[in-house]
Amino acid sequence: MAVEKTFVMIKPDGIQREIAGEIISRFERKGLKLVGMKMIKMSREKAETHYGEHKGKGFYDELIAFITSGPVILSVWEGLEAIKIVRKVVGATSPDKAEPGTIRGDFVLCTTFNVVHASDSGETAKKEISHFFEDNEIFDYSLPLGEFLQ
Ligand code: CDP
Ligand code: MG
Repeated sequence: MAVEKTFVMIKPDGIQREIAGEIISRFERKGLKLVGMKMIKMSREKAETHYGEHKGKGFYDELIAFITSGPVILSVWEGLEAIKIVRKVVGATSPDKAEPGTIRGDFVLCTTFNVVHASDSGETAKKEISHFFEDNEIFDYSLPLGEFLQ
């Protein structure tokens, strides 16, 4: 098992619904380490690159309009198997498949407005982190019990 970094975005609806703290807290409680964070209003260009794989799909235009509609919180989390673990904490894309106890299972009814994005593979995580963060915006620090927890 390897220590990995992954990218998480709290979408505009997560901020509008005032559950950003709740979402961040779920990753902290899981034992993941927050190593980068900022709030931005996403440009159309950044949004189109980020969601490039979905271009041409029926939901694409609405997704781009939604993600650029208000501020988002970008973050990078580190931990053992962080990419897979974060996706589990987030829950399935489809609201009827997202299990209770996951973020989407507990807070989401609509597939588009699903409060959080998380990288889905090692390759995507690398790409998404460097798309939104400079190297000097990612922090390397220890937690008091870090060596026992990882
Ligand atoms: O976010 P995730 O990786 O779980 O799902 P995705 O399949 O990569 O889709 C990206 C985003 O597009 C989702 O999080 C939804 O916000 C949106 N989407 C949608 O509006 N309608 C769909 N049928 C599928 C995805
Ligand atoms: Mg995805």
